[in-house]
Amino acid sequence: MVNVGLIGLGFIGLTHLDVYQKLSNARVVAISDKIPGRLNGSERMAGNIEGQAQGGFDYASARQYDEGMKLIDDPDVQAVDICLPTPLHVPYAIAALKKGKHVLSEKPMARDSKSARQYVAAAKKAKTVAMVALCMRFWPGWDWLKEAIRDGRYGKVRSAIFRRLCVIPKTPLYFDPDACGGAILDLHIHDVDFIQYLFGMPRSVFARGYSHYTAGIDHVVAHYEYDDVPLVVAEGGWSMSKTFLFTMQYTINFERATATYVIGEKLPLTICENDKPPHHPELRPGMGYQYEIEYFLKCIETGTRPTTVTIEDAARAVTIVEAATKSVRTGKVVRVPAPRPSAAG
Ligand SMILES: NC(=O)c1ccc[n+]([C@@H]2O[C@H](COP(=O)([O-])OP(=O)(O)OC[C@H]3O[C@@H](n4cnc5c(N)ncnc54)[C@H](O)[C@@H]3O)[C@@H](O)[C@H]2O)c1
Repeated sequence: MVNVGLIGLGFIGLTHLDVYQKLSNARVVAISDKIPGRLNGSERMAGNIEGQAQGGFDYASARQYDEGMKLIDDPDVQAVDICLPTPLHVPYAIAALKKGKHVLSEKPMARDSKSARQYVAAAKKAKTVAMVALCMRFWPGWDWLKEAIRDGRYGKVRSAIFRRLCVIPKTPLYFDPDACGGAILDLHIHDVDFIQYLFGMPRSVFARGYSHYTAGIDHVVAHYEYDDVPLVVAEGGWSMSKTFLFTMQYTINFERATATYVIGEKLPLTICENDKPPHHPELRPGMGYQYEIEYFLKCIETGTRPTTVTIEDAARAVTIVEAATKSVRTGKVVRVPAPRPSAAG
């Protein structure tokens, strides 16, 4: 049984709480938020995916802290789950690692690659588990795609197109691009990370985008350039009109099949092969959050560092987004810097 302390009871913190409630190998013994209504459960948030942030947690069953650093000091907490605004991920993760806690922190790992490298250095020094919650690596349908590419069942990938579009969440964090990094960091990073999971570090990126609701990049389309995959494109944005439904999707064109999956329109994963009727592989149920947290707990129980998503992977995702941001700002193709995962500072 792992004793978990959860910091940040907003949009994603409540989603994590939902998951812990259903698990038999973890219990949330401490919670923290600066907003009293969130700390006592009277103020509710809603997620952007059906079934997210459902509620039902017994708030009285956990010790309550009005500041996350106090929770980190709680000796009964073995694992700290950090669901704080983005600029706080690194200082709180490093503080928890220094206290000998296991850490799961939300994406993006950091506001910039410099602080991401500080997190990497602290995680490498620590004897505990450190993991960034890059949930697409665990998402039903996306995990299927990783396997299909890994085992080569449909041949090589000719094109891989990803989209993630929504209306900007009402939370103040997202209207402050200095804090959240804009849609290009906050939202698009899900696809950036999944692309590097599939194909490794891109050589370069060419991206275009614009601001709409904020002064940050609210909508981006980026070409990630590889020597061995002809076309890799991702579109991400929260500049849609107010009635637009959240959608995340991919269309992958292999040598011998096309795979399409759209979450938002409730369409099943569809595989089209030339000489067969389209078919729909069975996927594991639920959302990626549950599998990501189960994996984190398994790493703690087995005393192993995460491999499905490493701490260096999480830092590289931030580096790739920075290159895409530079491309939007300059209008030029930008070479993605070679990884410097273990350099501190
Ligand atoms: N994986 C995903 O799909 C996903 C989805 C949404 C958000 N996120 C990420 O999660 C993070 C949080 O996003 P959110 O939408 O939940 O934000 P949010 O603003 O709704 O929640 C953050 C909470 O942290 C609390 N907080 C701030 N400083 C604190 C402190 N020092 N001590 C204790 N509590 C403190 C705030 O009061 C707030 O309730 C962001 O980095 C975001 O990118 C990830």
